[in-house]
Amino acid sequence: MTEAKLVINENPNKKTKPDPDNLKFGKLFTDHMFTMEYSREKGWFQPQIVPYAPVSLEPASMIFHYGQSVFEGLKAYRDENNDVLLFRPDENLKRLNRSNGRLSIPPINEELVMDYLKQLISLEKDWIPQAEGTSLYIRPFIIATEPSLSVAPSNNYTFFIILSPVGSYYPEGIHPVSIMVEEHFTRAVRGGMGTAKTGGNYSAGYNAQEYAANQGHAQVMWLDGVEKKYIEEVGSMNVFFKIDGQVITPELNDSILQGVTRKSIIQLLADWDIQVIERKISMKEVYQAYEAGTLEEAFGAGTAAVVSPIGELIWKDESMIINGRQTGELTKSLYTTLTGIQTGKIPDPFEWTV
Ligand code: COI
Repeated sequence: MTEAKLVINENPNKKTKPDPDNLKFGKLFTDHMFTMEYSREKGWFQPQIVPYAPVSLEPASMIFHYGQSVFEGLKAYRDENNDVLLFRPDENLKRLNRSNGRLSIPPINEELVMDYLKQLISLEKDWIPQAEGTSLYIRPFIIATEPSLSVAPSNNYTFFIILSPVGSYYPEGIHPVSIMVEEHFTRAVRGGMGTAKTGGNYSAGYNAQEYAANQGHAQVMWLDGVEKKYIEEVGSMNVFFKIDGQVITPELNDSILQGVTRKSIIQLLADWDIQVIERKISMKEVYQAYEAGTLEEAFGAGTAAVVSPIGELIWKDESMIINGRQTGELTKSLYTTLTGIQTGKIPDPFEWTV
């Protein structure tokens, strides 16, 4: 990588900050963004912070044709001393490089990017909302910019980091949702890109999600793409079950995203002397547990929602109501503890916050 000093070009036209009580997810963006270019000759070069603005790209840019891009998502919070907290940003940069590897995008220097990210967040500190449940969502992403229709990795890329003040995922507090088990469409298959954070994995789920929404369900549960038997993810989140006192989550494979929230929950529960069993879990097993009355709790886990309780599962026309559609005690404790650590309201024994 070309060593380069970050250039900061301050925006003279600052926007009015939004009302923190009316924030949606990912609709508003701050005054600045980070950009950095890549070419085969120079490596990554020209890191800069510039006013947030439209970018100009040739229609032939490779991102528009074969979808060579990766992204990340993490959050910044401001604690009561006005200090900025990032939650495990090193994990996101590591995963960005893993996704880069899967999509033949050159790796970034994680240490340098961490420094650039911190400088961007310091500049935009006043954009971090402080109302309950709000945060500044950070979206790093890389796109292929070479103008070419060749079906091959691009020779040029742009790395962006944009920032969006976001509201509570649950304005009325966390509430259990209804989930439809998807048996026709597949999110990802063995050997595919499921473990990478790349746009195509998300748009691949849109029509299943639309169908589920039309039937009155919040999201879909994804099964493995080979046997359509084993549970992989829920919506865009990892998934956990509490069955007969045991916490189980699908073991990682190359079609499941390695969630930072997933990893944190496993570590947090270990600290509470609750071992999470990472193994294959089939829908049939979940149904049998439901019938036996041992399906105690189920929830999704991801950056945007932190944890999202599942109140109902629809599978082959069967409706399974979980915990009387109430948020379970374990789900509640995980939500309170994780968001407490993230916002600096409770001590962080794991040194996750930076
Ligand atoms: C997450 O919550 O971790 C996600 O991946 C959702 C994001 C793509 C909006």
